[in-house]
Amino acid sequence: MNTELEAALGAAHAAGEALRDGFGLRRQVRYKGEVDLVTEMDERAEEIIRETLLGAYPSYGMLAEEGGALRGEVDARWIVDPLDGTTNYAHGLPVFAVSIALEKAGEVVLGVVHDPMREETFVAERGNGTALNGEPIGVSRTDELVKALVVTGFPYDRDEVPAALDLFGRFSMLAQGMRRLGSAALDLCYVAAGRLDAYYERGIHAWDVAAGSLILQEAGGMITDYRGNPFEIERGELVVSNGALHPALVELTSEHLG
Ligand code: IPD
Repeated sequence: MNTELEAALGAAHAAGEALRDGFGLRRQVRYKGEVDLVTEMDERAEEIIRETLLGAYPSYGMLAEEGGALRGEVDARWIVDPLDGTTNYAHGLPVFAVSIALEKAGEVVLGVVHDPMREETFVAERGNGTALNGEPIGVSRTDELVKALVVTGFPYDRDEVPAALDLFGRFSMLAQGMRRLGSAALDLCYVAAGRLDAYYERGIHAWDVAAGSLILQEAGGMITDYRGNPFEIERGELVVSNGALHPALVELTSEHLG
C-alpha cells in the first residue's frame, strides 16, 4: 500500500475512533455563524489528523476546516474535514464522516472518507478505482430522473436559502425522491456506491468535497459545476451523478443560475 494512503487511513481511523467514543455525550458547541457550529470534537479530531499526517509528512501543507491553511515546502497538501456532518454529530444523529484528501500539483490524488459509526471506509487513488472496505464499488445505472434518488444540502448563509429551496422544489417534482443527509462527504460516497443517483449543492467548501470528489470519479461518476463546467474543489458548487443523469441535472441547475 502507498505510504501516504497508509498515513491517511491511520489518521482517519484514529480520528473516527475519537469521534465514536465521544458520540452522544453532551458537547460544548461554539457558533461560527448563525447556524454553523463547531464542537470540541471537531477540534480534537483535527488535532489527531494534523499530528499524524504532518508528523509523517512534515514538508506537506494542510488545509483543514478548523485550523485553516498551512503552507508546505513542497507542492502537496492534505485537505481535511475532521468531522463532516458536525450538526448531525452535535444532535446525536449518527451520520457524519472524517474526510482526508491529498492534493499534489493542484490535483487530488488520494481520498479517504471514513464513517466510524457504520465502520465504512471509502478509498480512492487516482487511476486505481474506488473501494469500500476493500471491495470495488461503482455508480448506479439509473438513467431517468423520475427513477433517481437525489441528495442535496442547504447553505448556512440564510440569504441563499430561498433560492436553494426553489431548486429543491423543482427537483422534488421531477426526481423519484429527495434526501438531505447533512454530510457532503457521505453524499459523494453514496453516489459513488450507487446508493444515491445524484447530488448537487452550492456554498460548499474544499474540505467537504476534496476526498469525496475523487472517490466519486474513480467509481465512474461525473462531477461538474452548476453549468456543466469542469469541477474545481474551491469553486463552492457541484453537480454529481452516475453520468447518465448528468444532462438532466445540469439543465435544472444551470437554468436556476439564470
Ligand atoms: C457540512 C455538511 C453539509 C453541507 C454543508 C457542509 P460540516 O459540513 O457537509 O452536508 O450541506 O455545506 O458545510 O460543516 O458538517 O463539516
